[in-house]
Amino acid sequence: MTLARWSDSLALGVDVIDADHRRLFDAINRLHFLDNADENVPTLANALGDVLDYTRSHFQREEMLMRLAGYPGYAAHCALHRKATEQAAQWEARCLADPTSARVRIFAEALSDWLLAHVQKEDMKLKPYVQRLQEVQSSSPEAA
Ligand SMILES: [Fe+2]
Ligand SMILES: [Fe+2]
Repeated sequence: MTLARWSDSLALGVDVIDADHRRLFDAINRLHFLDNADENVPTLANALGDVLDYTRSHFQREEMLMRLAGYPGYAAHCALHRKATEQAAQWEARCLADPTSARVRIFAEALSDWLLAHVQKEDMKLKPYVQRLQEVQSSSPEAA
């Protein structure tokens, strides 16, 4: 499982989304720590459930930001979120039905790796659109 290292280059400049990403990175690292500490399966599964819940609510906030920013890749990006959510739900169901240590660990690793790659490759594409939105907002008469 890869450790999630936050750096300012990953900031989009929107506090709520950056806080979400930092929190997701922290949660991924907690999973990593629990896995390395050879924690019991229910503890790992609980931590995994927390990451999943937070990921779902984060997707909603990020999709709202994309709409506000008029991001042209909105539909494709939402499709990535939907696909990951569906796959995670299937894995979650499998883990709940048969919570073996190996299964929970594989799911934790797959989710962590997906989230890291998604933030680094896909979410970063929003940056110029978010910056433009902020420029427009700060130059509007109401902002003066
Ligand atoms: Fe994100
Ligand atoms: Fe995203």
